[in-house]
Amino acid sequence: MPRHFLTGQELDREQLLALLARAHQLKAAPYSSDALAGKSVALIFEKPSTRTRLSYEVGVSELGGHAVVLRPGEMQLSRGESIADTARVLSGQVGAVGVRTGHDALIEELAAEGSIPVFNMLTELHHPSQVLADLMTLQEAFPERPLDELRVAYVGDGNNVARSLALLGATVGLGLIVASPEGYELEPGCGGERSNDPQAAATGADALYTDVWVSMGDEQTADERRAALAPYRLDDELLALAADGAIALHCLPAHPGEEITAELLYGKRQRIWDQAENRRHAQKALLEWLLAAD
Ligand code: CP
Ligand code: NVA
Repeated sequence: MPRHFLTGQELDREQLLALLARAHQLKAAPYSSDALAGKSVALIFEKPSTRTRLSYEVGVSELGGHAVVLRPGEMQLSRGESIADTARVLSGQVGAVGVRTGHDALIEELAAEGSIPVFNMLTELHHPSQVLADLMTLQEAFPERPLDELRVAYVGDGNNVARSLALLGATVGLGLIVASPEGYELEPGCGGERSNDPQAAATGADALYTDVWVSMGDEQTADERRAALAPYRLDDELLALAADGAIALHCLPAHPGEEITAELLYGKRQRIWDQAENRRHAQKALLEWLLAAD
């Protein structure tokens, strides 16, 4: 059975911590692994991407493999070829496939019908690839403190990034509170606490994390989202409530002046640009793990 990474819950605590430790090693020595030598990896993007495409494509190359970027509009999928048949064909050509799509069901079906590892590069409900880099960045920022001693306040829309942070955070015991306005809350039960009070959530936190207010696919409700989420902006005032030495995180792309101020986004207390770079290192460790079962 191939390994998959659809929600991130495929990894237990020990596996996730080992993957993060490996990510730090790969960051220190980017060309030290040829785990993908002679292998190809398909990357299917149904939605736009800057970081995810760059980090996976460059990461595959650094591991000695070859990345094939595919857009559904250029595939027979767009002319009605089934996901099951696409999965069979992919399984005969590449060692693994990553997918960015709005439909969680699509990656589940690809995984069920194919015989190769499938990994999630963002779906409507999950963005676990992002959270590998987030956890790695927290470890870098707080090298003396294990993840289960850190408190993160995610302030904003209870979306795919928030859900993955809650799920993978729960695996490693991260202290997490997700603060969102009414109607935009992350459902309970997937990890962490919930709040409707951004100030209370931020108080004493080691990191404040936010994401866009209008995710891909949410454009039709953009105005009402901006109005509801306006009190949930990450700014210096909110960070002042957090613990001494607290950092700001954002998965990007950012809208300076909307969910985060430009002062924080480009300031001294953010780790946001490290977080973006860490996507590559963390995902390389993931690719090694996914293909290790070969
Ligand atoms: N954070 C993230 O996934 O960025 P992209 O949409 O640019 O890939
Ligand atoms: N929540 C955002 C994340 C972008 C990386 C979206 O789904 O568009």
